[in-house]
Amino acid sequence: MQIVVYGGGAVGSLFAARLARAGHSILLIARPDHVRAIAERGLRVEGTTEESVRLTAASEIATGSGAEAALLTVKTFDLADAARRLARALPTPVPTLLPQNGLGVETLAEEGLAAGGWRAPADWTVRAVSTVPATWIAPGVVRAAGTGELLLPGPSGTGKDALVGRFERLFAGAGIPTRLVPEFDREVWRKALVNAAINPVTAVRGVPNGRLMDEPLRSEALGLLREALAAARANGFDFSESEAVRDLERIARATATNRSSMLQDIERGRPTEIDAISGELLRRAGAHGLDLPLTRKIIAEVQRRATGRAGRPQPS
Ligand code: PAF
Repeated sequence: MQIVVYGGGAVGSLFAARLARAGHSILLIARPDHVRAIAERGLRVEGTTEESVRLTAASEIATGSGAEAALLTVKTFDLADAARRLARALPTPVPTLLPQNGLGVETLAEEGLAAGGWRAPADWTVRAVSTVPATWIAPGVVRAAGTGELLLPGPSGTGKDALVGRFERLFAGAGIPTRLVPEFDREVWRKALVNAAINPVTAVRGVPNGRLMDEPLRSEALGLLREALAAARANGFDFSESEAVRDLERIARATATNRSSMLQDIERGRPTEIDAISGELLRRAGAHGLDLPLTRKIIAEVQRRATGRAGRPQPS
């Protein structure tokens, strides 16, 4: 299958490499230094497997590029713009996967796709939740940092089921575990709770995910998790505290050696997803008259660190 992977950060590059190895024809849209390295040496994946994969990479998508499916793997802050560019280049809509962290991702993507010319973009998007850990090493090199899975919306009895089935087969065939989950919105919130606890603490303290199992960082993460839980409950998603703590511990253990995406962004001097994760939780809690003081405080800390670094914000 011909697939555009729009966004060559750690996760997008890892997905692109796995799909290319499974025999698909991949066009990876990435930043120029990554594109150059891939053209010279292929895309190297370290970690659970050690391999170099040949695939096509470009820093912009040409109009009229052929594709049967797309993965939008840019970060949330670049999503609307990337979606617009994708739609402009592919005037005939194709099934498009959205595996971002955070809440409200579909709206951002669908607004961008509509601005790029797609009619009824919601018919083509498939929201996914990814816990596949990936670390950016250098241009042309990423690391698969442990185990994870791609969760997709369970059968809905609508036309979306066929689209979901295509992505399910695609990823399972590329060796990435997939699982269909009914009540998918709840799954998106479940992941947002975990991200709201793991990402800002690891980003501010500069530690890999597994360190959150030890005090004092465990208490710090649990404080944020409890606030995120309160926001989820106020919005009608009733997780028990023990369930949320279990999720947090499971993902922190499974990705123990991974540096969270937010920590990687800070280390690379790039914008972070703090607004799409913790900022969105704060807004959704605020809509119900709830304040999240620890979340508010850590958002400010992440923002301070992100802007205190050298490097200008750039798209994924
Ligand atoms: O954002 C991330 O880094 C990932 O969502 C996760 C699962 C926390 C692993 O690091």
